[in-house]
Amino acid sequence: MSERDPSTLRSARWFAPDDQRSFGHRSRLKQMGYDTDDFRNKPVIGILNTWSEVNNCHTHFRDRAEEVKRGVWQAGGFPLEIPVMSLSESFMKPTSMYYRNLLALEVEETLRCYPIDGTVLMGGCDKTVPALIMGATSANVPSIFLPAGPMMKGCWRGEKLGSGTDMWRYWAEKQAGNLCDDGWNELEDSIARSPGHCMTMGTASTMTALAEALGLCLPGSTSIPAVHSTHARMASACGRQIVELAWDQVKPRTLLTEKAFHNAIVTDMALGGSTNAIIHLIAMAGRAGIKLSLDIFDEISQQVSVIANVRPSGDYVMEEFYDAGGILALLRQIESHLHLDCPTVNGKTLGENIAGAEVFDSDVIRPLDNPVSKAGGTFILRGNLSPDGCVIKPTAADTRLLQHKGPAAVFEDYADLKNRINDPQLALTADHIIVLQNAGPLGAPGIPEWGMLPIPTYLLEQGVRDMVRISDARMSGTSYGACVLHVSPESSIGGPLALVQDGDMIELDVKGRRLHLDVSEEELEDRKSRWKPRPERFSRGYGRLYADEITQAPEGCDFRFLHAGEDADEPDIY
Ligand code: FES
Repeated sequence: MSERDPSTLRSARWFAPDDQRSFGHRSRLKQMGYDTDDFRNKPVIGILNTWSEVNNCHTHFRDRAEEVKRGVWQAGGFPLEIPVMSLSESFMKPTSMYYRNLLALEVEETLRCYPIDGTVLMGGCDKTVPALIMGATSANVPSIFLPAGPMMKGCWRGEKLGSGTDMWRYWAEKQAGNLCDDGWNELEDSIARSPGHCMTMGTASTMTALAEALGLCLPGSTSIPAVHSTHARMASACGRQIVELAWDQVKPRTLLTEKAFHNAIVTDMALGGSTNAIIHLIAMAGRAGIKLSLDIFDEISQQVSVIANVRPSGDYVMEEFYDAGGILALLRQIESHLHLDCPTVNGKTLGENIAGAEVFDSDVIRPLDNPVSKAGGTFILRGNLSPDGCVIKPTAADTRLLQHKGPAAVFEDYADLKNRINDPQLALTADHIIVLQNAGPLGAPGIPEWGMLPIPTYLLEQGVRDMVRISDARMSGTSYGACVLHVSPESSIGGPLALVQDGDMIELDVKGRRLHLDVSEEELEDRKSRWKPRPERFSRGYGRLYADEITQAPEGCDFRFLHAGEDADEPDIY
């Protein structure tokens, strides 16, 4: 048997036998214009492309798919581009998160049912990253993740603009009467100016970086701006390398070990990454059979400082992060916290990949002795208001609010919040704590990014720019504020958040990792006995499947039936 025996390829089951079924497979490839020499004895590489005209972050993916194919041909593979569902953060309602598991399921089954020996996963826009990786991990087919790369920075009247972050900031100024309509309209033209995902340290920049820390990307690839020629060359390199992985049968679950997830959490904290990363990492680890608890995130947050000076926690954007040395330089700074022996898709260890990486601007990528924040990016809080845990990103909050006690102003859902938040009769003050219910995984549904709850206009006019806000929703990674998120269990299944009433005193103690509702146990028991769930929303379709199977935030919001378990058999080929 030669070192590279084509009969060992998964696709050989489709194409190699001398029978009527394989004749059909081969003749249909020829129908598409391929000759025997194009595919015979070659690994078939499925390029899973999340390009879509409705996905603003992936507009360059048609070109990139061609560049991947070039690399696959060069390395002696046979590329087939396969479109999969595109989760467009900007346009999907109620939220792209509602569909993350659907894409993951599509990816898993696409890889299972077709003659694919290796796959290039093309994603970047927020939920595409965890979804593609979750599906590929469950299918356990050799995979490389090709990151979309961040878009170029925005600019308005000479001022740098960051995705999301500066939209929120200027919206507050507009509400406060400090920005005219013309200025606001100019901002609309200026904030998103090229292909690529959001260029702040939002969920896309965070999750692609974490995919690299997990070993699933070519070294340094996740920081390359989408429109750089380097990005196109990286795509071809992905094509070449996946052919090697397909021959060598390097599968995701070989790479996705507990040590690799430790590395991802360390990286998340050093980046000041999106709070969404916690949910996604738990879900991704679950597909690899690894249980991550919320506590490990908090433990690591106490050991690793935020050193990426990138918005919303810092000053810069991803283009500048790349020029400062990018993810490899950041990883080198925190190497003492990493398991450097973890293998990666380029056949080298993480340690080998970051050896020699340099920081070229120590204000963008700080040394550990001059961090943006001494503590890591995200903390886990518990207390009688969130017995199963919740999340806050203190680096993105006004520090005066990190120890705070105030009266609750409760809104029963987002429609209620929208209708009443600006009602002066509520007479909210900067000390109030805004509480939103029914915004969790089941309640919203889809745990949308509503967690940066709006501040009343009349308080904005008084100069208030941050308040404590509590919900079972998520928050965009580009958002900021003293927002307590992912409160679990969620209110729509009767979690304590459902029992909060106007005027109840709530204590937030970020240092003590505590979120406490100052109401007696007897009173809470009484409220609980009178609490009733809302009517079921879905009687059929995906919504029904979602409602039956979705788990809570500390379990990653994956579907129960998609958690790691016995592998499905390879399909019969008759
Ligand atoms: Fe796609 Fe932000 S809209 S990453």
